[in-house]
Amino acid sequence: MSEGRIAVVVGAARGIGLAAAKRLAARGDRIVGIDLQADVLRKAMASIGDDRKALAIPADVSSAGEVEKAFARIAAEFGAPEVLVNCAGITGKTGIPAHEVELEDFDRVYAINLRAAFLLTRAAVRAMLPSGKGRILHVASIAGKEGNAGMLAYSATKAGLIGMVKSAGKDYAETGITINALAPAVIRTDMVAAMPEHQVKYMTDKIPMKRTGELEEAAAMIEFIVSPDCSFTTGFTFDLTGGRATY
Ligand SMILES: NC(=O)c1ccc[n+]([C@@H]2O[C@H](COP(=O)([O-])OP(=O)(O)OC[C@H]3O[C@@H](n4cnc5c(N)ncnc54)[C@H](O)[C@@H]3O)[C@@H](O)[C@H]2O)c1
Repeated sequence: MSEGRIAVVVGAARGIGLAAAKRLAARGDRIVGIDLQADVLRKAMASIGDDRKALAIPADVSSAGEVEKAFARIAAEFGAPEVLVNCAGITGKTGIPAHEVELEDFDRVYAINLRAAFLLTRAAVRAMLPSGKGRILHVASIAGKEGNAGMLAYSATKAGLIGMVKSAGKDYAETGITINALAPAVIRTDMVAAMPEHQVKYMTDKIPMKRTGELEEAAAMIEFIVSPDCSFTTGFTFDLTGGRATY
């Protein structure tokens, strides 16, 4: 895998996605940032470089048509991507028990956390197969491994994402394409700021290091997992939880 790789970062307008985009750009990758928030995304990509260094493609990745369109544009304007980092995700309503979860909320969380991850994986693999090289990484969550109380839709869809990565990793194990996930505990982003404080305390109290994670710690792990050096691991969910998960 070469310097100047084309790295697609989804959810790149802010938070973990933007931190990952900046980190990959600094190592020499060319970034294609995808996000729902068009203006925020454009500003974020402009803070990295011009359109050849960091292109903004606003899109809703829960839509099959928009994912296909975005990847067609990447192929036409940039060429085949070697990296996909998917950081798009939502919590939905939190701090509520299972019997109070609304179907609409569950469907919305599913559409972004799992359906979109499938659509992105499929599009990225199709683009990567001809060259026989690629790194795909989805940001899952410790909630998918352990199940957080008050977060049924989020925990269930992140568990589904971890299962998808296990399966797809094996599908392409002989091709040069790796597919992995990362499971962070709490990192203080806008997503976490929007959650009820008691829910954030519940999650943070479970971290043995007794602190939340830093964006740079997430970006550093993402950089390694999608690097050429991380070549004998696929279908795996990496831990980023300050000791909460030991498996
Ligand atoms: N922050 C944490 O503590 C934490 C912990 C574990 C897992 N995660 C996961 O990490 C990922 C990034 O989280 P974050 O904290 O940076 O969140 P964030 O809300 O700050 O950023 C997520 C980005 O995804 C974008 N997005 C949402 N839906 C989209 C869609 N349909 N199409 C395109 N873009 C869309 C948003 O516009 C936003 O810019 C998420 O999957 C989240 O579940 C976060």
